[in-house]
Amino acid sequence: MDLTFYGHSCFSVEIEGKHLLFDPFIKGNPLAENIDTTGIKADYILVSHGHSDHIDDCIEIAKLTGAMVITNFEIAAWLSKKGIKKTHPMNIGGKKSFDFGTVKCTNAIHSSQLPDGSYGGNPMGFVILSKEKNFYYSGDTALTNDMLLIPEIGKIDFSVLPIGDNFTMDAADAAKAAEIVKCKKVLGVHYNSFELIKIDTKEAKQHFNNKGMELLLPEIGETISL
Ligand code: NI
Ligand code: MN
Repeated sequence: MDLTFYGHSCFSVEIEGKHLLFDPFIKGNPLAENIDTTGIKADYILVSHGHSDHIDDCIEIAKLTGAMVITNFEIAAWLSKKGIKKTHPMNIGGKKSFDFGTVKCTNAIHSSQLPDGSYGGNPMGFVILSKEKNFYYSGDTALTNDMLLIPEIGKIDFSVLPIGDNFTMDAADAAKAAEIVKCKKVLGVHYNSFELIKIDTKEAKQHFNNKGMELLLPEIGETISL
C-alpha cells in the first residue's frame, strides 16, 4: 500500500485504486510550502476532529475533487452548511463499509472545536480494514487504555501516530501505543510543524528501536510503500 505524507498529520493512501486523504492541513503548514493542494487526488477525505490543523484545506480539496468526507456527525453537518455535498457522518464505535474497505471510528482523548468556534463533536481515530492492509490512525490523542481494543478490530499492519508531545502523545507514548496495538511499523505525525511540537527525531526513533519497532518519518511529499 502506497502512503504519501503531506506534512503535519496529513497523508494519503491508495487502496484498490481509491485515494483516501486524511486530515488535510497543508497551506497553513510552513514546512509544506512545496505541496500543491490542487494536485492532490482524493476520493475520500477522513477528518479526525475539528481543529484547524486537521481540517483547514478540507473544503477546498473536497470541492476540487468531489471527494466524500468521512468524519463525525457534527463536523459533517458543519461541512454540509459550507457547501460540501458528499459527507458521511459517523461516530465513535461505529463502522461502515465503503468500496475501499471498512472504517471503524475509535476513541481519541483530545478536543474538537471547529475553526469558526462551532462545536466539533468528539475527536476520533480510524481503523481502516481492507483487502490490502489494515491500519490505525489514532488522530490527536493521549495514550489510552482504549487502545487495548484496537487489535480486536483486526490485525493492524501499521499505525499512524502523533509524536510531537504538548498537544498529543510524545514518541515514548506513541511507542507504547504501538505495542498495545500490536504493530511494529509506525508513521510518526504531528511534530515539528510549530514551535510547541518541535522534537528531536533521532531520540524519537530511538524509543521505537528500543522496542524492536520502526518509526517512519518520510519527507513531506514523499511516497512510501507499506
Ligand atoms: Ni487537535
Ligand atoms: Mn492537531
